[in-house]
Amino acid sequence: MKAQSSPKASEPLTWLELPSRPLRRNQVRLRVATAGVNPVDWKMRGYEFLGIAQRLLGPSGPIVVGIDVAGTVTEVGADVKGFALGDRVVGGTDFSKRERGSYAEEAIVAQENCAKLPDCVPFDTAAGLPVAGSTAWIALYEHGRLRERTSPKVLVLGAAGGVGHLAVQLAARVNAQVFGVCSTRNLAFVESLGATPLDYTKGDVSEAAKALGPFDIVLDCVGSAEYPRSFCQPQLKPDGIHVQIVPRASDLPFIALPGRTFTVLGRASQERLEGLVSAVASGELKVHIAERIPLAEAERAHAVSRGGKVVGKLVLVA
Ligand SMILES: NC(=O)c1ccc[n+]([C@@H]2O[C@H](COP(=O)([O-])OP(=O)(O)OC[C@H]3O[C@@H](n4cnc5c(N)ncnc54)[C@H](OP(=O)(O)O)[C@@H]3O)[C@@H](O)[C@H]2O)c1
Repeated sequence: MKAQSSPKASEPLTWLELPSRPLRRNQVRLRVATAGVNPVDWKMRGYEFLGIAQRLLGPSGPIVVGIDVAGTVTEVGADVKGFALGDRVVGGTDFSKRERGSYAEEAIVAQENCAKLPDCVPFDTAAGLPVAGSTAWIALYEHGRLRERTSPKVLVLGAAGGVGHLAVQLAARVNAQVFGVCSTRNLAFVESLGATPLDYTKGDVSEAAKALGPFDIVLDCVGSAEYPRSFCQPQLKPDGIHVQIVPRASDLPFIALPGRTFTVLGRASQERLEGLVSAVASGELKVHIAERIPLAEAERAHAVSRGGKVVGKLVLVA
């Protein structure tokens, strides 16, 4: 099969021919229709230790990045239940279990990490859900217990990006009052998602947020370099929580100890994906696609994502 990969992680992505791998008993093989782009895809390429881990643990040959995938089932493992040839599905590949990613003609996904797609949910929309949607889902509904709170208020930092724009909608659909921090050019977009927008390029956004809080959840989709704990914690209600998705080493003591700062690893379980797909099917959740880019241009997609200005999601089309 062909994959967008490179012999060395630091070299540009190009088409490489790689051998197909046999399925494990719990896996399905997909013909890739679309692959969502996440910053972790290009961050992985920069980490030399991932190259070493790949050599020691992974399949031989070049690394194939990409977690988000949507496509059609072409083969099912011996123990797979509930998926059949020809099914339309969305899923998340699992690099940590020695797998290859989704920037390829075919991808392998564990049945626990994928869900069926109804015909009303297009492949390009679906490919925006696994990492970004699961991250927002875990932060708000699992750590934040948003659905159990009364008249909740949520502050989303980085509300226009892949995770942020889904988080705003997932909060708004359970009747939270949502406030979204973004730059001037994205104010109307963030408002259209259901949030009151706050412009971080004009004035003191911390003071502006304090005047609107306190919040049940402060979800930081940008990073503690921009929004440190000293920004986030004073915004919280007494039982409020601060969720980080881009922790730095200096945050680790606060994450490790019991407290009000949590970090999230956005894993795409079947249950989360089914919840996300159902929200899309019912019209409560929209994936804003910034650009559909041919899979052959994955290197360009990474350059765009690295720029840090993507509004919604970038999707690669096979
Ligand atoms: N822990 C996890 O499991 C997990 C999961 C997904 C993502 N992440 C990480 O989370 C980060 C965000 O991911 P993403 O997919 O949402 O990225 P993204 O789509 O590339 O985010 C781009 C957005 O960030 C906004 N932004 C940049 N600086 C900002 C600031 N100072 N304040 C407010 N907004 C700002 C930009 O909006 P403006 O143009 O309006 O500034 C832009 O729309 C990445 O570092 C990613 O690696 C972690």
